[in-house]
Amino acid sequence: MKKATAIAPANIAFIKYWGKADPILNIPLNDSLSMNLSSALTKTTVEFSAELKQDAVVLNNKELSHKELKKVSKHLDLLRQRANSQLFALVQTTNSFPTGAGIASSASGFAALTLAACTALELKLSEKELSALARRGSGSASRSIPNGFTYWHKGSSDENSYATSLFDENYWRIHDIVAVVSSKKKNFVSSYGHELAPTSPLFPGRIESLPQTISEITTALKNKNFKAFGALLEQEALSMHAVMMTSQPSILYWLPETLEVMHAVQEMRTQGVAAYFTIDAGPNVHVICEEKNAVAVMNSLQKLDCVENYIDNIPAQGAFLVK
Ligand code: PMV
Repeated sequence: MKKATAIAPANIAFIKYWGKADPILNIPLNDSLSMNLSSALTKTTVEFSAELKQDAVVLNNKELSHKELKKVSKHLDLLRQRANSQLFALVQTTNSFPTGAGIASSASGFAALTLAACTALELKLSEKELSALARRGSGSASRSIPNGFTYWHKGSSDENSYATSLFDENYWRIHDIVAVVSSKKKNFVSSYGHELAPTSPLFPGRIESLPQTISEITTALKNKNFKAFGALLEQEALSMHAVMMTSQPSILYWLPETLEVMHAVQEMRTQGVAAYFTIDAGPNVHVICEEKNAVAVMNSLQKLDCVENYIDNIPAQGAFLVK
């Protein structure tokens, strides 16, 4: 049977990947660390067939144009090459969250596509190999293959740049409540930003300081020290956005609404609610808190006019197959 279905979560990075050592292989300039998101899932069915004359992709019930399809076909070519197959595929995929708005739809998308297509092609691969292959579609997709809290070892080659699980999804029930302030497509695709990162005068300082930050955040995660963990992840998001803003040309993903939520989160802390923010390549704000504060955070976010809606996530398992 040349057909398989997989589900994969998006992930939120606590240590961000920004800047590539190899833009073709998607080998990053730094290690990164993330958590899989339980309510931001992509479900993808891939069917290879001798009857198809070209690949076709249906995303959220709409067929992609030839141009949009290119990235998916390129990834399928890589997998076909591994399997020694010349068959084209029909890819049907649905997202449970807005596409391209700073909730990593490319991560869940390429993780689900990789697992479904490799299974349909009957490739027998280890988790590391799947993660490395997902990375080729989109760097952060490598982190959506293993379970729970995952760590992407930057590596130095196509084979040794992959993610592994640090802790599974049941380790620590923290929440990522995504405050959606805009569900429009983002202005700049992340590959453009990765390319510009080294043009920021702040970039060398960021790369130099990351090993220390990674060591501290890993210790906070091991000790379940939420305050230390939160402070580090918030500072890390600001560090990446400082690089984005000071690259040449500058990239500014924040909207006025983004800043409003950031201030509201810092205000929550003065009221005794330990909540911290992180932001990816988009305007939406991920608010991180412990289980005991999740309802208070959601109530506060609901009161803000600028928040269109919110998506509550807990740690999730990585990509898996469904019947
Ligand atoms: O995987 P890409 O190329 O879409 O890059 C993702 C970059 C960030 O989401 C901003 C950070 C990260 O590590 O997920």
